[in-house]
Amino acid sequence: MIVTTKKLFSAAYGKYAIGAYNINNLEQTMGLFRGCLDSKAPFIIQISKGARTYTHKKMLESLIRTADEVFPESIFAVHLDHGDEKTCMDCIESGFYSSVMIDASHEDFYGNIETTRRVVDAAHARGIVVEAELGQLGGVEEHVAVDEANAMLTNPEQAKEFVEKSGCDSLACAIGTSHGAYKFSGSQGLRFDVLELIQKRLPGFPLVMHGSSSVPQEEVERINAAGGSLRGAKGVDENQFKRAAELGVTKVNIDTDGRLVWTRVHREFFRDQPEKFDLRDPGKIFIAEYARFIVHKNEKLGSAGHLDELHKVVG
Ligand code: G3H
Ligand code: 13P
Ligand code: ZN
Repeated sequence: MIVTTKKLFSAAYGKYAIGAYNINNLEQTMGLFRGCLDSKAPFIIQISKGARTYTHKKMLESLIRTADEVFPESIFAVHLDHGDEKTCMDCIESGFYSSVMIDASHEDFYGNIETTRRVVDAAHARGIVVEAELGQLGGVEEHVAVDEANAMLTNPEQAKEFVEKSGCDSLACAIGTSHGAYKFSGSQGLRFDVLELIQKRLPGFPLVMHGSSSVPQEEVERINAAGGSLRGAKGVDENQFKRAAELGVTKVNIDTDGRLVWTRVHREFFRDQPEKFDLRDPGKIFIAEYARFIVHKNEKLGSAGHLDELHKVVG
């Protein structure tokens, strides 16, 4: 059942975080639904602008609608990840997305508010909820390139004014993470001090953590042992998700870790069975491994086991 992120957040706030997983294809979709049902967890499917144009934007829509029929017990939101204004409006018009992210974090404070406000007005008129971003993550986003050295954490002093003036329903905060597999060069980690200050100014308001892949070292080693070359990759400590959830983080974005599962499965498969060429052979392994990975993440996020109680809330 497709629901808004707002419904998921009101059930989760302060207790656990919902995993927001990016998908691009059939195999990820199957693994995601299976993993979330195996762990009895609500979830958020994220579709980036790149994912919408990988084949055709209607392809993912059909896949998700079909998955909803094949797995009728599932409860999830469909969310546009890192949208610009034009893409947000397209998703709002489509009637398919239950949630969009407007990422105007590269604009100045008031420009960000104005752009976000326009998307909020259009989305709310259709019952769709909006995530906005204040502050900038390091690394490279779809249309926002920011040097990690210049990464701008969210200013807690500005967070309340931003939310009030923009009317957004949740806020993506920059608290030390970045996108991709190379988040930290040393012992840096999540900036709980900044998160605490934001929550103080916005009590009860859902916060979002982007760039939350943990880049498991075992996964990196297996990829490298099978011919990969990922050097110095490092991610977020997933044991910190629950603390973040207590401080108001209700949505945790994970994409890179899933890509690592895909890379490990395919590299190992073709290394070990060089004579094979049926794409379904590694595909089947990937679906099972991706489902296992999703179960693990949902356990770390605390969302595992909450599906039955959500059924009572959302009907
Ligand atoms: O934040 C970006 C997500 O990982 C999506 O990545 O734009 O390559 O689809 P993508
Ligand atoms: P990762 O690159 O850490 O998986 O972050 C994904 C993300 O923030 C998608 O919006
Ligand atoms: Zn992101």
